[in-house]
Amino acid sequence: MSDHTHTEDPERLAEFEARVAAGEQVETGEWMPGEYRQEALRLIQMHANSEIMGAMPEREWIPRAPTLSRKMALTAKVQDEVGHAQLLYRVAETLGRSRVQMIADLIEGRSKFHNVFHYPAETWADVAVIQVFVDGAAMQTQGALRSSSYAPYARVMKRICYEEDFHIRLGLDVYRTLADGTPRQRAMLQDAITRWWVPLLHFFGMPDRVSPHTEKMLRWRLKVKSNEELRQQFLRKFVPIIQEAGFTVPDPALRWDEASQRYAYAEPDWEELKRVGRNQGPKSAERLALRQDYHRRHRWVREAVERWGLLAA
Ligand SMILES: [Fe+2]
Ligand SMILES: [Fe+2]
Repeated sequence: MSDHTHTEDPERLAEFEARVAAGEQVETGEWMPGEYRQEALRLIQMHANSEIMGAMPEREWIPRAPTLSRKMALTAKVQDEVGHAQLLYRVAETLGRSRVQMIADLIEGRSKFHNVFHYPAETWADVAVIQVFVDGAAMQTQGALRSSSYAPYARVMKRICYEEDFHIRLGLDVYRTLADGTPRQRAMLQDAITRWWVPLLHFFGMPDRVSPHTEKMLRWRLKVKSNEELRQQFLRKFVPIIQEAGFTVPDPALRWDEASQRYAYAEPDWEELKRVGRNQGPKSAERLALRQDYHRRHRWVREAVERWGLLAA
């Protein structure tokens, strides 16, 4: 997007930048640079897509949850994620793209959703890993975005983080039950940790290039922390959860460096992240097809709502 030249009034732009630098936020309807609007929309639309697609891997486990209370908690968690998508699509709409258009973008493969939701949830231990580590990774990014410069996004993010925190606690309970369980349960959890490790490192994206674009996104607070900063924050909080329960991180190079207060880790295969980003992950096609199928099957609801004029209310 940085090659796209927006001709902005330099005075207005300077005034906008000064406001954002002073920690002020931008409300819907206020003037913002065209590139700011475009980037905020891209970011929030992808976030909304990720919430709705993120409900799918766990949803598959609702019928197979081991107990009634696990089933009830998982159902509530999946509902929360769909609710997050609704909130976020509404925020994205304030930037000028309709929800109908955004859903079409998603199911026709024109917009992205987060890498972790392109992978299968093979066992019940995957549910624990998703709730603790995937929601935990999302929490790092979303927690930082509570101070996003786009006010409606920041507000929604506060509400979402409150629920995400609960998802992680719920996950820790499933995680600890398996960790304290039989050798077979522990082996199942270790296997899930091993399979999810690389997608979790990928989650934060490649280390940022020091480009004028990244610099601008940070200055405009559409990005609050760098990818590597968020990844390190995640590793500091979540590697001990793996190691203290006696599990192994599948990376012999992983090492805490006292001097730099950072984790050293083996560089994951970034090509895999790029493939997943093009919807070529192990479950991309299947999940998009399922989303398309729901969309088709629910057409009568949209038509009824439209006919009764309920959307106008
Ligand atoms: Fe969520
Ligand atoms: Fe969540």
